[in-house]
Amino acid sequence: MQARLCSIGGALLSEVRFGADAAPVWVFGYGSLIWRPDFPFAERKRARIDGWVRRFWQGSHDHRGTPDAPGRVVTLIPQANARCVGIAYLIEHDVFDHLDHREKNGYERCGVTLEFGDGRTDGVMYVAPHDNHAFLGDAPLDAIARQILVSRGPSGANVEYLYELARALRDLDADDRHVFELEARVKSLELDGHPTAA
Ligand code: SIN
Repeated sequence: MQARLCSIGGALLSEVRFGADAAPVWVFGYGSLIWRPDFPFAERKRARIDGWVRRFWQGSHDHRGTPDAPGRVVTLIPQANARCVGIAYLIEHDVFDHLDHREKNGYERCGVTLEFGDGRTDGVMYVAPHDNHAFLGDAPLDAIARQILVSRGPSGANVEYLYELARALRDLDADDRHVFELEARVKSLELDGHPTAA
């Protein structure tokens, strides 16, 4: 099994290769992988990666929206001095078949250094680069909030993705202004009676 060499926004990412006898691998989750781990893992730990920020800039055609009305989910954007907290899972490499399918809408598997409280290790993460077919990019926060409020896909309402992620980040004591501000904006739109995905 082998991952493509990722070059995302000028960030240098290592190629990830696994041989037939590959040892278990750490996978870094920063979005739904944090709060919906539907795969087997041997260990699960809070982890941090440096030089990346989490943004609701990726379109979701297959989970939280449809091709005609995409929802918004998170990807990682390179940013100097940024830090992103998530969860790392230690998995057997055959689990990548499931993860590659789950993350198939524009995400690529890339190598990354994971920082644990007590050391660091090489791992893998799924990033949706700016040139993928489903990338939506930046927009005013209010526009992103309104899109999340009305979107729904086969995995459920887009607001569930946002609220579960915000809850999980609070549990991890992770500071993420983008996510928490979006959560507040969507909640206030709901309170104001704006139509939702229902
Ligand atoms: C991740 O959670 O690490 C990738 C993005 C997602 O599936 O929400």
